[in-house]
Amino acid sequence: MFRHLHDWDIVQLERTTDSFSLSARGINFLENIGFFVWAMAGYGRLIRTAGSDMLSAEPPDWRTLRDGYSVSRGSRLCNERFIDPIFQSEFTKLGAQCVADLGCGDGHRLFSLAKDHPDLRGIGMDLDSTSIELASAKAERENVSSRLTFISKDIFRLPHPYPDVDCVICSLMMHDILGHLTCADSPAWLQKFFPSLQHITVVDTLQPDEHIGSSTPIFINGFTLIHALMNVELHPRTAYEAALSSNGLELMSSREISGIPSTWMFIARVEKWN
Ligand SMILES: C[S@@+](CC[C@H](N)C(=O)[O-])C[C@H]1O[C@@H](n2cnc3c(N)ncnc32)[C@H](O)[C@@H]1O
Repeated sequence: MFRHLHDWDIVQLERTTDSFSLSARGINFLENIGFFVWAMAGYGRLIRTAGSDMLSAEPPDWRTLRDGYSVSRGSRLCNERFIDPIFQSEFTKLGAQCVADLGCGDGHRLFSLAKDHPDLRGIGMDLDSTSIELASAKAERENVSSRLTFISKDIFRLPHPYPDVDCVICSLMMHDILGHLTCADSPAWLQKFFPSLQHITVVDTLQPDEHIGSSTPIFINGFTLIHALMNVELHPRTAYEAALSSNGLELMSSREISGIPSTWMFIARVEKWN
């Protein structure tokens, strides 16, 4: 294993001192480990069948080819490294009491918010049952199950409204919402299921624009390739800003997250539901 790491220029040998250390590439690789876990562990099977099955006349459903828990785990690693430091402080300013995390993955964001805000309650929703089971078990273990609930559900098939929720978080999955609902329909959907909503915070990787440099081609190419194989559309920043500033929503801020290319955070507040 060490030899492979050396051959791939992840570690470098110091022959004079008989020691080794991470190379510049190794440091960069570790910083971006979340992306590699997301892409290779989460979607490795999809990529491996890309040249054959996925391009056939009757491609298999891509959902059967992904490892949902690795998708969550990779996203958590990206979040911890690049997003959380900005997200947590912006969230605190909103004064939320009860949060719904749409597509919560392994629930990492709710756990860290619950730690920082002892009165906060939260509900995490995700399609992936393994991620939800593990999150529920962790909530029991960490004695926060009275405040944090996790449900394995498709957010487009919610059984009833959640009238306590005053803040919605949607991290790295708003592109799925924009694929289901038009920009104009999204606020009405939010109002129906979260009638007491005051704020929505969205973090997502957008359709890369022409300003993307060439320094991070693996991330951008990998991200674009995997979504193309799934036939999941990526959306430009204007689509997010339109969805978050129409029909009673007012966009409060939109900012780029440094470190992950083409990734932005948006915060909107409910001005007055129409
Ligand atoms: C890229 S992960 C992001 C996880 C987490 N929000 C984060 O930021 O680390 C996207 C998550 O959205 C979930 N997801 C996608 N479509 C969904 C839907 N319609 N209903 C519920 N969850 C969904 C996936 O299962 C996956 O866990």
